[in-house]
Amino acid sequence: MEKIDILVVGGGGREHAIIRKLKESPRCGKLYCTPGNGGISRDAQCFDVAATDVEGVVALARELKPDLTFVAPDDPLVAGMVDALEEAGFAAFGPRANAAILEGSKVFSKNLMKQYGIPTAGYEVFGNPAEALAYIRKQDVYPAVIKADGLALGKGVVLCDTYADAEKAIKDIMEDRVFGESGSRVVVEEFLTGPEVSVLAFTDGKTVKPMVSSKDHKRAFDGDMGPNTGGMGTISPNPHYSQADADYCMEHIFQPTINAMRQEGRPFKGCLYFGLMLTPKGPKVIEYNCRFGDPETQVVLPRLKTDLIDILEAVREERLEELEIEWSDDACACVVMASGGYPAAYKKGLEIRGLNAEGQVYGATVYHAGTKYEKNRFYTNGGRVLGVTATSDTLEDALAKAYEAVSRIDFHNAHYRKDIGAVSL
Ligand code: AMP
Ligand code: GLY
Repeated sequence: MEKIDILVVGGGGREHAIIRKLKESPRCGKLYCTPGNGGISRDAQCFDVAATDVEGVVALARELKPDLTFVAPDDPLVAGMVDALEEAGFAAFGPRANAAILEGSKVFSKNLMKQYGIPTAGYEVFGNPAEALAYIRKQDVYPAVIKADGLALGKGVVLCDTYADAEKAIKDIMEDRVFGESGSRVVVEEFLTGPEVSVLAFTDGKTVKPMVSSKDHKRAFDGDMGPNTGGMGTISPNPHYSQADADYCMEHIFQPTINAMRQEGRPFKGCLYFGLMLTPKGPKVIEYNCRFGDPETQVVLPRLKTDLIDILEAVREERLEELEIEWSDDACACVVMASGGYPAAYKKGLEIRGLNAEGQVYGATVYHAGTKYEKNRFYTNGGRVLGVTATSDTLEDALAKAYEAVSRIDFHNAHYRKDIGAVSL
């Protein structure tokens, strides 16, 4: 069997889950990761090139000569890392920049959906703060949803309950440029209601194969309170997402998006993340991401039965149609342990207790996010620290196992939600 060496770009829980899955493949050769983290360093050889450093990663590929480079995070994809790797002669998994724009520009994605009749919230685009505010005042409907056009570390969406909130959001985004150039334009959008669902999908630019669904818990505190975060925990499958929803999305959202991108001369090859809301008028797109979700990946990939390396190759070689992708019927739950204070200020460098030498704990899989490994010990090194993940035949049992494992791990001021997967959410 031909083994292949793989370089994974990124260093969070998502990348750890990808690396763990790749490791299960009998075809997996050497595994490299940059920058990785403490837990990933137990599974792959790590390097200190930043995930956003396009030239640095190309130089690393020249040194390591991997058979495949898997670019996981949004920023390098939007910045054209896959283009740069391919131009230097290296095979890479992930969309080129002209397709990653689906996440890189909300104006682009909203206009694409409008043009191709893909269901999404109604919207207007503004390049001028006064005009945006005049529109919001005239609409007089709250909450008003304001989105910065470009990437904003997941913080570019503001739900405004009053006109004063909208004034502040427009000032922050468009005048003070708290998200930099991302705020040169804004989308003002209709407020939608309903359960949110994340669906990741493999696509080779023609065929799209959705993965099993998942549900993210974005707010920092129990009961969906507190600030938005990168995600405090996930479950798969998403209990709100029916087969009828899946069929509707395939016909009206997933395949039409892939077709639209191809028609625009921007074939999307890689993993496309559909952030959906199941509104009273049917499923609608809240956002596209040009990559695997974090922490969605941590509950989706453990359920994948087909060899991930075979899928990555089929995507690259545009043979996805031929490949049958199999999933287990198990449920999976991930509880994120974060540093107290996250998503605002928090401390780093605190020792994590309860993990074994591999950074794992009995009864669950611990995907490391913000950790580092020094002299046989693990330390916190970020806001989201660990994704403690368990699989079982029922969701209740998967959650019980994940929380049992969480109770064995400790670091100073650790914070996690106690209600991941609760029926009421
Ligand atoms: P995003 O950063 O794009 O994932 O958006 C953050 C969160 O804002 C989403 O998960 C939704 O909960 C919420 N959101 C975004 N757009 C809308 C909308 N049009 N209506 C209601 N909620 C929204
Ligand atoms: N969990 C949301 C994201 O990956 O964007």
